[in-house]
Amino acid sequence: MLNVKCKKLIIANWKMNPLTVKEVVSLAKKIDDKDLVICPPLPFLSIVKNEIEKSELGAQNIFWENKGAYTGEVSARMIKEFGVKYVIIGHSERRKYLGETDEMIAKKIRAAIENKLIPILCVGETIEQRKGGGAEKVIKSQLQRDLSLVIGHRSLVKQFIVAYEPIWAIGTGISCEPKEAARIHRLIRGIISNFVRQLADRISNLRIIYGGSVDSKNIGNYLKYNEIEGALVGGASLRADEIKKIVKISKSHSVSSNLTR
Ligand code: PGA
Repeated sequence: MLNVKCKKLIIANWKMNPLTVKEVVSLAKKIDDKDLVICPPLPFLSIVKNEIEKSELGAQNIFWENKGAYTGEVSARMIKEFGVKYVIIGHSERRKYLGETDEMIAKKIRAAIENKLIPILCVGETIEQRKGGGAEKVIKSQLQRDLSLVIGHRSLVKQFIVAYEPIWAIGTGISCEPKEAARIHRLIRGIISNFVRQLADRISNLRIIYGGSVDSKNIGNYLKYNEIEGALVGGASLRADEIKKIVKISKSHSVSSNLTR
């Protein structure tokens, strides 16, 4: 058994921002870094691709079919044309505002994997669920349903990211206690290892990252936990200085693993 170290992963989720091409160009140029994945809005994918030399590109959503009569949707196959490597799936804002269900998310996860995109599956509980003591139950149920179509396809699952994003911490400035986030991360790895043993056993194949009001002041408190293997950053990723600081801090941490590779 080897002790292997790998980098923490920082993912910028720009959501539906910024507004103009000028702002997109300026921000992308400033924050370009080999340890950063940038997920811009879909219409700006090719613009960001042209501006970056080091960062990797991610999308914020895909549809589950590759092509056809699905007005307004964009497929995994299409975004691959832009050199996209990652895709966020099941973000709580999509679950809430677009009515995305776990069944839809499961199909999107399958589409991503079949198209060799690395899914960033977002899971997390509401404040009511947490207060009622049901955070673990909610997360388990989300993972079970969202992964239901890939569980039998072990060979398909080469790389997978789960973002633990407690809904009450997203965009609120109220971040989850790092120790508590680390506990939930352990729980998530345990749950997934029951579903897809080979995936969860390899830390390079499954990464669990934290999201929810991450900024340059608190990122170090999260990344010092080995279980927290990176961060999904929303609001702070739109401020060049902030995200650059976050990436810089992330470089001084690593994930060490005694697991088999
Ligand atoms: P936030 O968003 O950093 O603005 O809280 C995180 C996310 O929703 O991915």
